[in-house]
Amino acid sequence: MSEVVLITGGGIGIGRATAKAFGKAGYHVVVTDVLDKEGGAVAAEIVAAGGSAEFHKLDVRSTEQADALVAAIEKKHGGIAVIVANAGIAHKVPLSQLSDEKWDYTFDIDLKGIFRVVRPAVAGMKKAKKGAVICVSSIMGVAYGWDEHVHYSAAKSGVVGLVRGLAVELARDGIRVNGIAPGYIRTAQLLSKEHSLGPDADKAGEFIPMGRIGEPEDIADVILFLASNAARYMTGQVVVVDGGLLVGRY
Ligand SMILES: NC(=O)c1ccc[n+]([C@@H]2O[C@H](COP(=O)([O-])OP(=O)(O)OC[C@H]3O[C@@H](n4cnc5c(N)ncnc54)[C@H](O)[C@@H]3O)[C@@H](O)[C@H]2O)c1
Repeated sequence: MSEVVLITGGGIGIGRATAKAFGKAGYHVVVTDVLDKEGGAVAAEIVAAGGSAEFHKLDVRSTEQADALVAAIEKKHGGIAVIVANAGIAHKVPLSQLSDEKWDYTFDIDLKGIFRVVRPAVAGMKKAKKGAVICVSSIMGVAYGWDEHVHYSAAKSGVVGLVRGLAVELARDGIRVNGIAPGYIRTAQLLSKEHSLGPDADKAGEFIPMGRIGEPEDIADVILFLASNAARYMTGQVVVVDGGLLVGRY
């Protein structure tokens, strides 16, 4: 039987590319998202390509939904081998307008949303003595500050701490926890004029050593590696995948 991977925010962008990469690699892919249509389409695409997948609506702000979905998937498939906690938002809010509500909203999705999905899956992974969790952070969480996105930078830095804590607590149970910190990746988030670089995002290629912004597949392939046996001695790390941006001299 194929190993099961559960992906949050799998309907578009990095999550979608990741779902497809795992589908191609032979996993049974549980695509989840708040976006019904897009998430369903990704599962259908995987199945049409000869893979195995199903879609479930999951808002990572809901503990109830996360607990119920993990229980249902475990009951149906016997266990979850991999979780890719990818769902995230990056809202541009100047400090003067950064209310408690706006701060909490971003943290609830980008940081607690990861914990909510991992927490109910830990018991099953412990029983199987095996599991891999990959959490999506950002270069804005591991190295850069991002103006008018203080809450985002803080939440994405929080992901690094979450990865380290979980990794140490779960290592003896055979569960590895790692993160990924993407640079500038061509998705709806980056192409948003309101919240990020906008449609001219390709211009960022000028200051990225590899000369281009990243594609969702550039991230998906590294996530797949982190989930695989090739990364068996790796835990507690957050891998930067940014075309050399952070190490460039600019
Ligand atoms: N694109 C980039 O340049 C970049 C860089 C660094 C990190 N990231 C991170 O990568 C991850 C994926 O982002 P993306 O670039 O593919 O953006 P995207 O906007 O294309 O996708 C984000 C996904 O998260 C889902 N989502 C949002 N709120 C949700 C909720 N409450 N519950 C469940 N799903 C929810 C969306 O529906 C969507 O499917 C995010 O965590 C993002 O912060 C992106």
